[in-house]
Amino acid sequence: MQRIPLIAGNWKMHTSLAEARNLAAAVVSVCKGLTDREVMIAPPFTALATVAEVVRGSGVRLAAQNICWEEQGAFTGEIAPGMLRELGCDMAIIGHSERRHIFGESDALVNQRMAGAMRFGITPIFCFGETLAEREGGQTMAVLERQIRAGLADIAVVDPTRLVLAYEPVWAIGTGKTASDHQAQEAHEFVRNLLLEMYEKSIARQIRILYGGSVNSGNVDALLRQPDIDGALVGGAALKVDSFERIIHFRQ
Ligand code: 13P
Repeated sequence: MQRIPLIAGNWKMHTSLAEARNLAAAVVSVCKGLTDREVMIAPPFTALATVAEVVRGSGVRLAAQNICWEEQGAFTGEIAPGMLRELGCDMAIIGHSERRHIFGESDALVNQRMAGAMRFGITPIFCFGETLAEREGGQTMAVLERQIRAGLADIAVVDPTRLVLAYEPVWAIGTGKTASDHQAQEAHEFVRNLLLEMYEKSIARQIRILYGGSVNSGNVDALLRQPDIDGALVGGAALKVDSFERIIHFRQ
């Protein structure tokens, strides 16, 4: 079985309601007839309900940018899995570098979010990646291994399509500096081998690993041609329909 490429747009803290509605409608329209790849968008929480109506029935998938592990309760500022499911949102980005570095989310907290998402049937996009200092210090693979083993601790995977990983080197996010195809493939291959150690081989081979960090219309083809890169998690270039359309229609 082949891994179906996934192109995911993370809108971060952008878009008014009107902008979100228009952008989502444009994404739906450029995705018509696509069968060999999946497309997902992650608007801010405030626009999820609006965007859910726009994408309903289109095949474009909807994700939240974070998720809590509890069903309900005293968790000010958090969103429960059931609240997302009610909107038709069945994916969530977890452990994004901005959550880790700006808001101090630890590996343990990320693992808690992962467990919660899986328990309630939300497909996580589990993000990890090294900083520039860690790369320059020769720590890249050790950091990735620590983040992955901790983030996926006690996470059982039965259906490999219901877990997505995203390698996002921190130094490549929003900087215009993309990892080279070689650097990205090297990290992805390392992650694939780690998954093969952690999970049953047939499962590990099916888990998608996305690359994120300054993906744009000019570099997407070469990145996605790499054998262990199964899609892209796109920030800035997902906010403009022209660039996102070209990324969605990447050529391998
Ligand atoms: P950019 O594509 O803007 O570098 O952002 C990447 C990212 O963080 C996606 O989650």
